Amino acid sequence: MSTSSDSAISSLRFPFQETVEAEGHLIDSQILELVFDEVVQYGGRFEVEEFRIGRTNEEPSYLRLRVATPTQDAMQRLLQNLSANGCYPVAGGDARLQRVERDCCAPEDFYSSTNHRTLVRVDGEWLEVRNQRMDALLVVEQGAVYARRLRDLRAGDAVVVGLHGVRVIPGAKERDRHAFAFMSNGVSSERQVEMAVRQTASLMRHTRERGQDVVIVAGPVVIHTGGVEPVSRLIRAGLVQALLAGNALGVHDIEAALLGTSLGVRLRDGRLEEHGHRNHMRAINRIYHCGDIRGAVEQKVLTRGILYECVRGGVPFVLAGSLRDDGPLPDTVTDMNRAQDLYATHLRSAGMVLCLGSMLHSIAVGNMLPSWVKIVCVDINPAVATKISDRGTGQLLPVITDVGLFLDLLARHVDGGDDRHRDPEHSLSEEIE
Ligand SMILES: NC(=O)c1ccc[n+]([C@@H]2O[C@H](COP(=O)([O-])OP(=O)(O)OC[C@H]3O[C@@H](n4cnc5c(N)ncnc54)[C@H](O)[C@@H]3O)[C@@H](O)[C@H]2O)c1
Repeated sequence: MSTSSDSAISSLRFPFQETVEAEGHLIDSQILELVFDEVVQYGGRFEVEEFRIGRTNEEPSYLRLRVATPTQDAMQRLLQNLSANGCYPVAGGDARLQRVERDCCAPEDFYSSTNHRTLVRVDGEWLEVRNQRMDALLVVEQGAVYARRLRDLRAGDAVVVGLHGVRVIPGAKERDRHAFAFMSNGVSSERQVEMAVRQTASLMRHTRERGQDVVIVAGPVVIHTGGVEPVSRLIRAGLVQALLAGNALGVHDIEAALLGTSLGVRLRDGRLEEHGHRNHMRAINRIYHCGDIRGAVEQKVLTRGILYECVRGGVPFVLAGSLRDDGPLPDTVTDMNRAQDLYATHLRSAGMVLCLGSMLHSIAVGNMLPSWVKIVCVDINPAVATKISDRGTGQLLPVITDVGLFLDLLARHVDGGDDRHRDPEHSLSEEIE
């Protein structure tokens, strides 16, 4: 940190000074504005030493800025926030590393990751962090850098401390806005849902064409609103590579498949089934008799529904436990660390995640993903999408609507209303009677 006197900033009032630089789509990604706001927020001053604007839609802009604060503490916190926006000190060198002394115990000054692409300078070379996610530590191991959660830290690990030698590349706003456009206010809500469906369908296809996975994250409201058939069709169309959910989705999907109700309400006509309140427990009991969900499919007890399609199509699913769970189903993973690990494993190859009516699981997944993976979040409550984007997920398409309606439109769009796979001799209403 210098106390230069050739700057226009008073070194008496602002003795702690540093030169920082940033490169990227600084204007249309609003990074410039964010950087200036951060300096002011910490009671500091800035002076632009150099600014070069990118002259084409590909060319990045470059900013070199002198920042100054009245206290050292303010400077430390300012640099931390600037680095999260891709603005880092010019005076560099390698990242500082410190050995971990005890499992799960990091040095006090550890660097905590964002979900943006990050580079770490090791032996003069900038290395890209692997398994990028937020709220992780950066561990340098055999010439590579890994984002590692605190609970996975082991004695002897070399973790990055401080901010020097770390570069964050914040997500740039998509230049190809047709691929992932945001809804404009002037469009009616029905039209917005139609547009969102079209974009989602095309994103799913593009993701598969690029060889990446489409992952569905879903809550039980998918079943209550009639989403079983549309999701089944998406799975059969080969457009889903993993399903991440909780116990409730499994329970109600199986209840619907075996008994034609969801939480005791008949899916056929929306009326409450007599003694229907015990149907979800009957469903769980039936699965226990078969060992687990796969066993129920193999024994032909479970012959339809989302989980049936997953087993039949070899699509992996994870049902994470929670305090609210009934049963739970034998497949539900009640060790929360293990459930998080399994979610993370299936998200590793995701190019796109479709979050459907689960605040808990959608936000959890948002926290696990790097910022460049696209998320379509369908929920009746706008707060869910806001929460995900607040944590820095740049590639989010929020769809505020009923999830059953959205899924129905999506499945029609994807397979043109194809119902070849429906078995007319096996309708839900017949099972109830
Ligand atoms: N019987 C059970 O075992 C049981 C029952 C319920 C929940 N749970 C468990 O509790 C946890 C949280 O459950 P959750 O994810 O359902 O709850 P949640 O509150 O986290 O999310 C539910 C979301 O659905 C949205 N929503 C409601 N109606 C909608 C509609 N028509 N269209 C679109 N969105 C709609 C809400 O706005 C909310 O964001 C999960 O782990 C779940 O498995 C268990």
